[in-house]
Amino acid sequence: MPGAILAEGLVKTFGDVRALDGVDLDVPEGTVLGLLGPNGAGKTTAVRILTTLIAPDSGRAVVAGIDVLKKPDAVRRSIGLSGQFAAVDEYLTGRENLQMVGRLYQMSARDAKARTSELLERFHLDDAADRPAKTYSGGMRRRLDLAAALVVSPPVMFMDEPTTGLDPRNRQQLWEVIKELVAGGTTLLLTTQYLEEADHLAHDIAVVDHGRVIARGTSDQLKARTGGERVEVVVRAPERIGDAVGVLRGFARDGLTVEDHTRKVTVPVSGGARLLAEVIREFDARGIEIDDIGLRRPTLDDVFISLTGHAAEDGAAGPETARGPGRRRGRGRRGERGEGAARESGQEVAS
Ligand SMILES: Nc1ncnc2c1ncn2[C@@H]1O[C@H](COP(=O)(O)OP(=O)(O)OP(=O)(O)O)[C@@H](O)[C@H]1O
Ligand SMILES: [Mg+2]
Repeated sequence: MPGAILAEGLVKTFGDVRALDGVDLDVPEGTVLGLLGPNGAGKTTAVRILTTLIAPDSGRAVVAGIDVLKKPDAVRRSIGLSGQFAAVDEYLTGRENLQMVGRLYQMSARDAKARTSELLERFHLDDAADRPAKTYSGGMRRRLDLAAALVVSPPVMFMDEPTTGLDPRNRQQLWEVIKELVAGGTTLLLTTQYLEEADHLAHDIAVVDHGRVIARGTSDQLKARTGGERVEVVVRAPERIGDAVGVLRGFARDGLTVEDHTRKVTVPVSGGARLLAEVIREFDARGIEIDDIGLRRPTLDDVFISLTGHAAEDGAAGPETARGPGRRRGRGRRGERGEGAARESGQEVAS
């Protein structure tokens, strides 16, 4: 498999910390694997092993058909890496940075120049191309680093949180670039905190927590595990929440939850839009006023929270603004009053 990524039983410890505790991954050629997990889950450690930057304590990895431990140099020639923290030469200009990468990869001066111009334009860096990188904003550095990873088009790419710190427009654009790359046959392992990003780009998703892969599947498969659709009702008057719960219990299998501060009652259902109409009639009949009602399908956020459970509590690193929607929602959900202990530990939905 010239373009595939394979890892088996990767273990890596740093002192007492077991960063990877037996990770298996496989990314078929020409596909995108999204590695998803809370801070400290082990994502970057996995990427660093697969890109030959550190060696695992045990386990093996094959990238682009080459054994990572036995022939790291050969692996390096077949991969591109955009790390979690942009690695650009501060004193060189954007243009010089990219040309240097091209030359390091043995491109002719002419090709390196042409590729550089193309990428500078692509990543909206042409205006700043001839200023030293140290004058760039965070998002510009990020884009320069990504452009550098794309100077040569290696068969296998690794991107560690590629869009963290990018504004929505630049994120969208990077998604387009990534889609084109993959359409061209590149295999990509991408880590992200943005569940929407994994939803959008990844063929397959591996959820990592505490150094282990705890779930694996397509976005749809993972969503199906959280138990399908549910009705959410926002009750107008707090004193009617109890009545609303009474009504909804008639529709629920189980797992009804109440969020007092938003007056939201959520209940897993099956039956779709027809059932929604019935719910509304029942509320009407009892004179319970509502502010909002809707049928919601599980999002990848729900999956993430139900699988990792502690996602919100773990958010030790990074400013809130640099984190994905999953994290913010996770925090909100901590206030949820679940029915029964199972719900509180997030176990019930994962079954
Ligand atoms: N060089 C190191 N020395 C000591 N501990 C380390 C080192 N690198 C990683 N760790 C620890 O290993 C664990 C996994 O870290 P890793 O960087 O792989 O997490 P991550 O999933 O990339 O997190 P994030 O989402 O915050 O980037 C963490 O507990 C981290 O503190
Ligand atoms: Mg990381």
